[in-house]
Amino acid sequence: MKLLPEIVASLAQAKEIAVFSGAGLSADSGIPTFRDGATGLWNNVDPDEVASVAGFERNPRVVWRWLQQLKRLVDDCQPNPGHLAIARLQALCPEQRLTVITQNIDGYHGSAGNDQVLEIHGTIHRVRCHRHCGFSADWDQSTTEPYACPECGALVRPDLVLFGEALNERVFSAAEKRSANADIFFCVGTSFTVQPAAQLPIWAKSFGAVVVEVNPHPTPFSQLADFSIRSGASEFFSALCAALENRQ
Ligand code: APR
Repeated sequence: MKLLPEIVASLAQAKEIAVFSGAGLSADSGIPTFRDGATGLWNNVDPDEVASVAGFERNPRVVWRWLQQLKRLVDDCQPNPGHLAIARLQALCPEQRLTVITQNIDGYHGSAGNDQVLEIHGTIHRVRCHRHCGFSADWDQSTTEPYACPECGALVRPDLVLFGEALNERVFSAAEKRSANADIFFCVGTSFTVQPAAQLPIWAKSFGAVVVEVNPHPTPFSQLADFSIRSGASEFFSALCAALENRQ
């Protein structure tokens, strides 16, 4: 795809780069997004029932089992060329700091090779004590039911942010700081539906970042972005890496 030279130039001059990602980045891996047409996860199941803290406290087994089938899909799929290109971007910009701020819980940025990843909605690869007593552990598929926390007896649940829960303050304030420091802020594969995550690009822009949106469809943020690119994540970030490689 034809890249705008201004984007490549802004990236090359940036000291701090941020990539803010949503479910659309993992669509090419085979993981359904949440709100896209007929395949959107929330168009087929009620998030309040299967992914909210009220739902978990009402019926822990329903939430655990729904998240377990999502984890099974994530474990069966893998990072796609979009994730790999974002990891390549980090390697192509060694003098710059590249932070990934992701709403995704699949862990694909880390396994693709990015080493500065802020998972602001947590991860589907770990569980933790529902009472935040400090207990946490890797989640393998063998545990099919919620169980009692070995430390305090409360229930154990996946270590991701359920609807109605606060985000991890330490992680989110790091994301705010990196957004404020960003010279260029890429937003990829998100519908900007969920707060407070959707504030981050606005925060970045208010501190002077060049904001680039990558999405095949327009979003509520498209007007605010400096560049709103109608493209899939894999195509855009692969082209961006190629353009940087041609400059070097
Ligand atoms: N490349 C880039 N963007 C894409 C692609 C693609 N190949 N395919 C779809 N998209 C875009 C869609 O146009 C849509 O705007 O990805 C976006 C996905 O939006 P959502 O499904 O709402 O996902 P997201 O924005 O990540 O949701 C935010 O909501 O359900 C909660 O916690 C969950 O983190 C999630 C949050």
